[in-house]
Amino acid sequence: MAEHRLGIIMHGITGRMGLNQHLIRSIAGIIKEGGVSLSNGDKVMPDPLLLGRDLKKLSQVANENSIKRFTDDYQAAFKSSEDTLFFDAGSTQMRPSLLLQAIEANKNIYCEKPLGLKLDDAIAICTAAKKRGLKTGIVQDKLFLPGLLKLRTLIDSGSLGKILSLKIDFGYWVFDGETHPAQRPSWNYQKENGGGIIFDMMSHWQYILDNLISPVTAVSCLGVNHIRARRDENNQSYQADADDAAYVTVELEGGAIAQINSSWCTRVYRDDLAFFQVDGTKGSAVAGLTSCKYQSMENTPTPVWNPDEPQAVNFYKQWKEVEGQGKYDNAFKHQWQLFIRHLYEDAPWNHTLEEGVKGVQFAEAAMKSWSDRRWVAINEIDFQHE
Ligand SMILES: NC(=O)c1ccc[n+]([C@@H]2O[C@H](COP(=O)([O-])OP(=O)(O)OC[C@H]3O[C@@H](n4cnc5c(N)ncnc54)[C@H](O)[C@@H]3O)[C@@H](O)[C@H]2O)c1
Repeated sequence: MAEHRLGIIMHGITGRMGLNQHLIRSIAGIIKEGGVSLSNGDKVMPDPLLLGRDLKKLSQVANENSIKRFTDDYQAAFKSSEDTLFFDAGSTQMRPSLLLQAIEANKNIYCEKPLGLKLDDAIAICTAAKKRGLKTGIVQDKLFLPGLLKLRTLIDSGSLGKILSLKIDFGYWVFDGETHPAQRPSWNYQKENGGGIIFDMMSHWQYILDNLISPVTAVSCLGVNHIRARRDENNQSYQADADDAAYVTVELEGGAIAQINSSWCTRVYRDDLAFFQVDGTKGSAVAGLTSCKYQSMENTPTPVWNPDEPQAVNFYKQWKEVEGQGKYDNAFKHQWQLFIRHLYEDAPWNHTLEEGVKGVQFAEAAMKSWSDRRWVAINEIDFQHE
């Protein structure tokens, strides 16, 4: 049994996602567990090189997580022959140019979503990586959430019959910084810094719809900038000019319709921060991040509309909890393990940069729909047009 060292340049690990999900929960977690096991019994042990602008912050993160290597020298990091994988969880706006530099330096690529803020940029990155024969991956963590794994098993089993429609209700109140500190980075609310909920969330909805039901074929989107002024990390007020809610309808291949609300300006009155309802001819299912419930045809009630009396039916009672398969690991960590196996033993992997391009295409189409106030078709992507 051999141990293989995987040198990973990790960028953006002082940020919210990079630090909590990718460094602490995923890579440090994998190191603590003794690496990723391959099918022949070998182990792959990640050896991260933390990369960023601020040496002080990097050194603190490195110390807290028992990581030896960190640097603010981007060019030296790209040149390092010890590190064959580049990972990015920096701000979305920086991603295309960083990934292109890493690809030039022949690094395999794994990155957060969205792949970029323009379809052409995303296609260019993908094409450059393909030309060099690099292995690539994009984070599609929601597919590995227990709630969605259970929902997917239910859909795939045919228990819901033909899927007719899907509703996604996502969001929570993000404080503007006046009464409580904002719980998301200020760039999310600034157009010039690549903010906006449409690019942030449509890239998730695209792969969820595509993987659970069928590919998207057209989108109608109304974006809104509800809250126009916020306070940043330094308590300075700024103009929040990016979309902070989007009200979207989507057509899917095969005829199913999805209605999706995404909002940072709503208060939660549902079971979870994201809630999914799928209605099919034989049954319906609802899922949050961890749980999933199912209502079959035989458990479907026959409600009577009678506004003169309080509602007599408890509509939550006819839903049965879908049992999972034991304990689920962190979704980000699970995807990292799959990607590392893909790197070393070509294990199946569906989350390539090409899939990431589709997320950008969907977000761009939603933006166009909003600005033109019309439906926009989602066509097959032409990877040659580079
Ligand atoms: N998969 C998910 O569920 C999910 C959730 C939230 C965010 N994201 C994605 O993760 C990425 C990061 O989001 P976040 O919320 O962690 O943001 P963040 O602002 O908390 O972190 C951004 C990171 O990039 C670094 N950075 C920013 N500007 C830089 C610059 N000019 N030079 C060098 N470094 C710079 C910051 O120091 C920080 O380490 C985004 O692309 C976002 O779309 C994914």
